[in-house]
Amino acid sequence: MKISVIGTGYVGLVTGVCLSDIGHQVTCIDIDQQKVEKMRKGISPIFEPGLEELMVKNIDAERLFFTTDHKAGFQNAQAIYIAVGTPQNGDGSANLLFIEQVAKDIATQVTNDVVVVTKSTVPVGTNDYIKKLIQEQLVNDVKVEVVSNPEFLREGSAVKDTFYGDRIVIGSDSETAASLIEEVNKSFGIPVYKTDIRSAEMIKYASNAFLATKISFINEISNICEKTGANVEDVAIGMGLDQRIGNKFLNAGIGYGGSCFPKDTNALVQIAGNVEHDFELLKSVIKVNNDQQRLLVDKAINRFGTLSGKRVAILGLAFKPNTDDMREAASIKISQELVQMGAEVVAYDPIAMENAKKLLPGAIMYVNSIDEAILNADCAFILTEWDEIKKIDLSNLNNVMQEAVLFDGRNCFSIEETKNVNIEYHSIGRPSVMKELVVN
Ligand code: UDX
Repeated sequence: MKISVIGTGYVGLVTGVCLSDIGHQVTCIDIDQQKVEKMRKGISPIFEPGLEELMVKNIDAERLFFTTDHKAGFQNAQAIYIAVGTPQNGDGSANLLFIEQVAKDIATQVTNDVVVVTKSTVPVGTNDYIKKLIQEQLVNDVKVEVVSNPEFLREGSAVKDTFYGDRIVIGSDSETAASLIEEVNKSFGIPVYKTDIRSAEMIKYASNAFLATKISFINEISNICEKTGANVEDVAIGMGLDQRIGNKFLNAGIGYGGSCFPKDTNALVQIAGNVEHDFELLKSVIKVNNDQQRLLVDKAINRFGTLSGKRVAILGLAFKPNTDDMREAASIKISQELVQMGAEVVAYDPIAMENAKKLLPGAIMYVNSIDEAILNADCAFILTEWDEIKKIDLSNLNNVMQEAVLFDGRNCFSIEETKNVNIEYHSIGRPSVMKELVVN
């Protein structure tokens, strides 16, 4: 089939590339000329494992195209995917300016019947609004139908998630439009759930809010574990064995970040507020997450009294491993506080440092390896569980650090392994491990 995708951010680009890989003729449209030039050469503007290989493969096979020209991009398309951003407004609600512009572009430039598919995460009712906007501004005598088809991709595994997702949700009031989109996705072989438009829109918000709730829940449990002497990892394993609970998304840490959970939880609180429902539970989830992000700093202050003049190594800056995305990363808040308190901060991340430099305080020193970061440090903060960070030689810390004190915000090491290497180890929801006292 011939498909257009508007917007080449994470969602749009991954969707377009994967749809071309299952045999569709896909044209990705973006207003950024420079970005389009690069993508034509098979260069991905984002770091996403496996994406560039697929781009090159499908560009070479003449199934994947990039353009800034909407009209040319829409030519003969049977489906147009909307994948533009819905950034957060000051009050937490979703900003629909890009969506409105796209609706106008579609209305004024399509020349054949088409199904418009909304991939962007939009408040309940937005697809009806898009439909209305298009109908009102439609120039040619063509039939335009609207389908909500939310994405559930995780950054860092977005390609894999597209091919092996748990479900494809299709919301529409037109059986023919829904069937066409089901057909588009057929080769993925993923179960399809068809429903009405508003339910599909809500499924996306409810899913993200539920996952965020799971994380804040286990983080609250971890705080209680610390005070009662329990170990949150063992608690999570014991809970997860109950299939009704499941063992996923129960990793305690320094809270969730990224482009979706913070934005979508705030937006759902707004959506609820708009229909006069006070979503107290979700408000608490958000508050717990904000508090959780500063937990390591509190632990360090308790340990050292003051962090002024201390050399602090930050290991990992991205909001999670396998991405260079810094959006809402816990490292932002943590590094700001450390710098404010007068600490000397040395940071390392395998790939997110360039993006980090745009967001973190100017006083931070960036280095190119873990070894350089921890050299002579008074303590180290682990903020992202990159593989190379999980492989640190703990037995060497005592030799290279001023004081081998580790604050691990991602529980990268088992308590057992830290006990044998003579370091001081503070993690989340588990007992702290103190250095052995050497008695002469
Ligand atoms: C998420 C959803 O998983 C995805 O379905 C949706 O489409 C977009 O938002 P993403 O933001 O890429 O994806 O990352 P995810 O892997 O879900 O992690 C989000 C945050 O939660 C990260 O900061 C991660 O560190 C944190 N997290 C996740 C935890 O703290 N504990 C967990 O157990 C799981």
